[in-house]
Amino acid sequence: MPVITEIEDLKRIYRRRTPKMFYDYCESGSWTEQTFRENSSDFDKLYFRQRIAVDMTDRSTASQMIGEDVAMPVALAPVGLTGMQHADGEIKAARAAEKFGVPFTLSTMSINSIEDVAAATTKPFWFQLYTMRDEDFIRRLIERAKAAKCSALVITLDLQILGQRHKDLKNGLSAPPKPTLMNMINLATKWRWGIGMLGAQRREFGNIVGHVEGISDAADLGAWTAEQFDLTLDWTKIAKLKEMWGGKVILKGIIDAEDAKMALKVGADAIIVSNHGGRQLDGALSSIRALPAILDAVGDKVEVHLDSGIRSGQDVLKAVAMGAKGTYIGRAFVYGLGAMGEAGVTAALEVIRKEMDISMALCGRRSIAEVSRDILLVPEGFEGRWQG
Ligand code: GLV
Repeated sequence: MPVITEIEDLKRIYRRRTPKMFYDYCESGSWTEQTFRENSSDFDKLYFRQRIAVDMTDRSTASQMIGEDVAMPVALAPVGLTGMQHADGEIKAARAAEKFGVPFTLSTMSINSIEDVAAATTKPFWFQLYTMRDEDFIRRLIERAKAAKCSALVITLDLQILGQRHKDLKNGLSAPPKPTLMNMINLATKWRWGIGMLGAQRREFGNIVGHVEGISDAADLGAWTAEQFDLTLDWTKIAKLKEMWGGKVILKGIIDAEDAKMALKVGADAIIVSNHGGRQLDGALSSIRALPAILDAVGDKVEVHLDSGIRSGQDVLKAVAMGAKGTYIGRAFVYGLGAMGEAGVTAALEVIRKEMDISMALCGRRSIAEVSRDILLVPEGFEGRWQG
């Protein structure tokens, strides 16, 4: 096994081993990718305050997210097509998360189904829901997540319509890939991926294919979302979904304080400050810059999490110091998965924990409960001063 010291190491191996269309799918933002880039580069604008001569023994990164114990305040984000990044990708990522002690969130647009992941794990995972026009399908999906004993429903609110990612259109992204000449040439160089896929439990959208009728092309994410996703989604519908679920609800995709207040009104157990990894509204504020205003608006009344841009344990520590009770990694775990399957996801989690733990110690803190904004130097106007 190669020596992995940082998430970038996993990304390099991932890029070599994974078909171009799936690497590009993961490593893209919408349009100019400004928000995609700034999600990460804005973390670099926050500095740590190094403290010295503080006892560093008995440190712990353990914490809680929505009342569940977590080995560190990091969950695996819902990522569509994860089972195309590596054979049985969702199962492998869920197993790695379970062993590590962090939540795994299964995407509606996963390859392995809810039932596949439930059968391969022993602890409850979280299920992410996209709202679709077919209400019966949504009802059945929610029932399936309940039957699988998922402990939270993560409702994504920023993707009723797909932000354009140029590369996906140019690559003809689909699951499984279509046998075009360009795909065949690229796949021929990815023999390890291909052998894995031959033995995979599934190669299509497992929560959808066989569970819904009348789709013109179930392999094409773009066509599927345009045809099926619910353009009429509003807060009344969100409240109904919450009622239908009856358990803990996390609302994902909030980047504006007014929407955070609405989420509070419908009784969310947690909200995720997220711009979908820069994949939806390009030109929106990065999550880390949007966080302070949202915390000011609702931070004392609802648990606020942060997603988008995290590529290191230092990023996690900065988000937690700014006030997030939990964070999510999407691309960072996909790099590990594509590089080395389950072991790669574990490696990604280990890298992040180590970076967070050592950085926390060098800031003079020994536990997540002791981490607060005063370990940071935040530049004036970091969150922005906007007119009117
Ligand atoms: C779906 O969640 C996507 O961002 O592609």
